[in-house]
Amino acid sequence: MSRPAIAWINLDHLCHNYRLLQQAATDASVMAVVKANAYGHGLNLVAPALFRAGCRLFAVTDADEGAKLRNILRSDDPAGDTEIALLSGIFDAGDASLATTEHLTPTISDSAQCDMLQAADFDGAAWIKVDTGMNRLGAAEPQVLIRQCLQAGIQIRGFMSHLACADTPLHPMNRQQAERFASLCDQAAPQLPRSLLNSAGIISMPDQCLDVVRPGIALYGAEPVAEKPMGLKPVMRMTARVIQVRDIKAGETVSYSASFTAETSMRIAIVSAGYADGIPRALSGCGQASCHDRLLPVTGRVCMDYTMLNVSDTNIQSGDNVEFWGMELAANDVASMIDTISYTLFTGVGERVRRVPV
Ligand SMILES: Cc1ncc(COP(=O)(O)O)c(C=O)c1O
Repeated sequence: MSRPAIAWINLDHLCHNYRLLQQAATDASVMAVVKANAYGHGLNLVAPALFRAGCRLFAVTDADEGAKLRNILRSDDPAGDTEIALLSGIFDAGDASLATTEHLTPTISDSAQCDMLQAADFDGAAWIKVDTGMNRLGAAEPQVLIRQCLQAGIQIRGFMSHLACADTPLHPMNRQQAERFASLCDQAAPQLPRSLLNSAGIISMPDQCLDVVRPGIALYGAEPVAEKPMGLKPVMRMTARVIQVRDIKAGETVSYSASFTAETSMRIAIVSAGYADGIPRALSGCGQASCHDRLLPVTGRVCMDYTMLNVSDTNIQSGDNVEFWGMELAANDVASMIDTISYTLFTGVGERVRRVPV
């Protein structure tokens, strides 16, 4: 019997979200962003489900993730026709060789990446990444890079850029970046496909869906723009089991550093998941879990393997399962309680947590 810390992955909800995004993107194609083990949800579960829902464009971070994904899709797509874009491009000669053998589609941000691909006899296509104001990855002037790629026998798949403030629909940078992107693409190669928007961008700037959109977080059901919910459904439900219940007296303390002292007698449940499973330590003394329609305060410090909950005045018993986020507690709400984002909750789910499809 494995440890009862489980991330339940609802693949129907995933496909529902994919379809909603495809509708919102109108004529643009949806490139599903499944990097970082599908944002912690399990690439081996998420990618085949999306493929069967019709998705033929995927994005991961690097060549290792790309090769893993190619392998996962092998039985559904034996010819390897599905596009697997590498959002960080390639880092070294090994990556360039994997991109060649696994028929991956890197992004290229600088001439060194182009050189490495040429040296690996890469004869596929690559996205040209352009920086339009975020000052992260991307070429400032793509013309030189395009020329270099074409001389190296690399086809140009299109242009890609990324918005810095897409989750704030009225932020002036959104329009400035879109205009800069349009002008750079028009000057460099107006006929080539363009991709600008992530999840929040699809909601904030629907007129900029262009040829390909790249949603990540929305696929997993976290609303990317709080004030404009799309009707997404949560994909991950993070649960663990009550493995012991104990009564403590006033004056006793709970967990490391004795940071919590009981003011009256109370009942504490010890739950089988801690920060090594992805329950953020920042929830110590301020978070909640849910069970039988009750919200149970996290009491004392979250430990590596356990979290203690106040279950006074409840009939919660050993063997009950509690939810840390998912259906009853929205991941976005849990994240904002500790000043973070749902991305960090999902990607923080530990390797030892089983991902179980439902
Ligand atoms: C280049 C790029 N495109 C798309 C995405 C997906 O973003 P989101 O999960 O906000 O939809 C990311 C995520 O980090 C990204 O780096």
